[in-house]
Amino acid sequence: MKVTVVGAGNVGATCADVLAYREIANEVVLVDIKEGVAEGKALDIWQKAPINLYDTRTVGVTNDYTKTAGSDVVVITSGLPRKPGMTRDDLIQTNAGIVKIVTEQVIEHSPEAIIIVVSNPLDVMTYQAHLSSKLPRTKVMGMAGILDTARYRAFLAEALNVSPKDIQAVLMGGHGDTMVPLPRYTTVGGIPVTELIDEETLDAIIERTKFGGGELVKLMGTSAWYAPGSAAAQMVEAIVRDQKRVFPVCIKLDGEYGIDDCYLGVPVILGKNGIEKVIELDLNEDEKALLQSSRTHVKEVMAVLENLK
Ligand SMILES: NC(=O)c1ccc[n+]([C@@H]2O[C@H](COP(=O)([O-])OP(=O)(O)OC[C@H]3O[C@@H](n4cnc5c(N)ncnc54)[C@H](O)[C@@H]3O)[C@@H](O)[C@H]2O)c1
Repeated sequence: MKVTVVGAGNVGATCADVLAYREIANEVVLVDIKEGVAEGKALDIWQKAPINLYDTRTVGVTNDYTKTAGSDVVVITSGLPRKPGMTRDDLIQTNAGIVKIVTEQVIEHSPEAIIIVVSNPLDVMTYQAHLSSKLPRTKVMGMAGILDTARYRAFLAEALNVSPKDIQAVLMGGHGDTMVPLPRYTTVGGIPVTELIDEETLDAIIERTKFGGGELVKLMGTSAWYAPGSAAAQMVEAIVRDQKRVFPVCIKLDGEYGIDDCYLGVPVILGKNGIEKVIELDLNEDEKALLQSSRTHVKEVMAVLENLK
């Protein structure tokens, strides 16, 4: 299996590293426009192979898409990250231009690839990649839900003093402040979380999760990379190993949840064909209202993109 990661910055390099050391692909190609950066990081990952014992071949290139030819999966992380005080939406114009040009080049050399978008604003960059690739919606998806859910699970594990491995959860909606938490679907070793934690603490964790990205931007002056890079690699793994994993993933909704033509995070089954099924939960009225407000926000940002064209 061959995987290309576009953007050899913090998230892209982390994703390539996870793909290599976990031997998720036989070959990982890292692409960037900054001369030498992808080559250097790919070489560094390759030189770690004899220490950490893996044999995934890792190659870096500067803007040369011929080397990406025949990729099974392509992860797009190219774009500017968020700086303090910036919202994800501020990034739209610059990153849409980057995602457009990158997607066109990727598809020229790997017409059968499945595309995973990471660049922000996530839901709208996934839309851009869909427009530019002309692939079916099941083959162009965005990574956000696994990261948002992981943040929520990590906070819960800390509060309950349990292993994060035992926390199962799903969050839906857009990536950002309008995400839709679903405590009803959160369990700890099979036990509903509401039996183990008081409402006030749970609400505080949900609020912290909504602004989890911003918390890290404030601390580091740029957005996160370890968890985002690992989350994208986990999606790649589900596809290349045909694992049929159930993850929250950003996809264009075509009538599911009563929503049309909008990119939102929903639970799906991920396997070798990309998104193999969208899982429709029976949401209650409050959850439906939250999802609608998330939809309204994403639609507004999609409209900004449409007006740019
Ligand atoms: N979806 C999520 O949950 C999530 C999480 C974290 C970051 N992000 C987003 O991911 C993106 C990358 O973040 P980062 O921290 O890795 O940023 P970064 O600045 O470290 O890396 C971005 C890389 O993209 C490269 N690049 C720019 N234009 C390019 C082009 N046309 N072709 C190839 N490469 C190009 C840059 O040279 C840079 O190396 C940002 O948009 C960020 O907001 C999303």
